[in-house]
Amino acid sequence: MILGFLGTGHITTSVIEGIFKSKLKFKKIYISPRNNMIAKKLSKRFKKVYISKNNQQLIDNSDWVFLAITPQVANKILKLLKFKKRKKIISFISTFKIKDLKFITKNKNITRVIPLPFIGMKKGPVIISPKDRSAKSFFKHLGKVIEIKSEKLSKGFWTTSSFMASFYNLIFVTSSWLISKGIKQKEADQYVKELFLALSEDAVQKKNINLKRLVSESQTPGGTNASVLKNLKKNKFYKIQIKVLNEIFKKF
Ligand SMILES: NC(=O)c1ccc[n+]([C@@H]2O[C@H](COP(=O)([O-])OP(=O)(O)OC[C@H]3O[C@@H](n4cnc5c(N)ncnc54)[C@H](OP(=O)(O)O)[C@@H]3O)[C@@H](O)[C@H]2O)c1
Repeated sequence: MILGFLGTGHITTSVIEGIFKSKLKFKKIYISPRNNMIAKKLSKRFKKVYISKNNQQLIDNSDWVFLAITPQVANKILKLLKFKKRKKIISFISTFKIKDLKFITKNKNITRVIPLPFIGMKKGPVIISPKDRSAKSFFKHLGKVIEIKSEKLSKGFWTTSSFMASFYNLIFVTSSWLISKGIKQKEADQYVKELFLALSEDAVQKKNINLKRLVSESQTPGGTNASVLKNLKKNKFYKIQIKVLNEIFKKF
């Protein structure tokens, strides 16, 4: 199988890194010449990665085409490109509906996928919508596949995948606070990274315990965990979280 990535930016880099760490079988990968610096780096790093001359050549030479361009670029360039009717298209584009992609590419074989940067470590969730057997058997090598049958429902996952920067800010603020109390930056950063990693791993491993129960089991009545939670609730921390999610949801 020959894979082609239209748009050689952050997410293409992560997906290709994941592919080369996986047992996926493929003949070669074509990447588009933009971004030139990233394309050169990737083709130097991985023997089976080739930079195509232009976007059309990439599409013509690939069995699967991954759309890894921004919605603005997609709007500009897709209408100028030709896709065979049954060529498989996997779109990573955040705000572009299948209906519109079908219209603009004149192709019916389109699936939307939400990869996240940790796909480069073969970790994290990968949302596939609508259900697609071949996409599932591909992406299961790169992360935890969650299939969502309706595109409309997948909007929620696009929304929650916008939590990356604010998550990092949460752990950054936690570390900064430790530093303000006299802890060295290296130790503070290491501590918060390990703390949040362990919390996530613990939640994943406790498959039969729902999140609400985890909240209640991780606090002693009247203890410090209970007090922090109560204070954050009182200060509308979580109400603001929901409000922000609702705002972003409207974008998808
Ligand atoms: N990053 C994520 O975590 C993530 C997760 C899920 C989905 N996505 C989606 O994936 C898409 C790409 O995101 P990204 O973060 O990888 O963005 P990015 O790093 O900005 O990559 C976009 C790439 O498209 C290239 N490009 C611009 N014009 C082009 C053209 N005419 N022909 C071919 N390529 C062109 C850019 O090249 P230049 O630098 O030369 O302009 C750049 O390499 C977006 O729709 C985003 O919503 C991203």
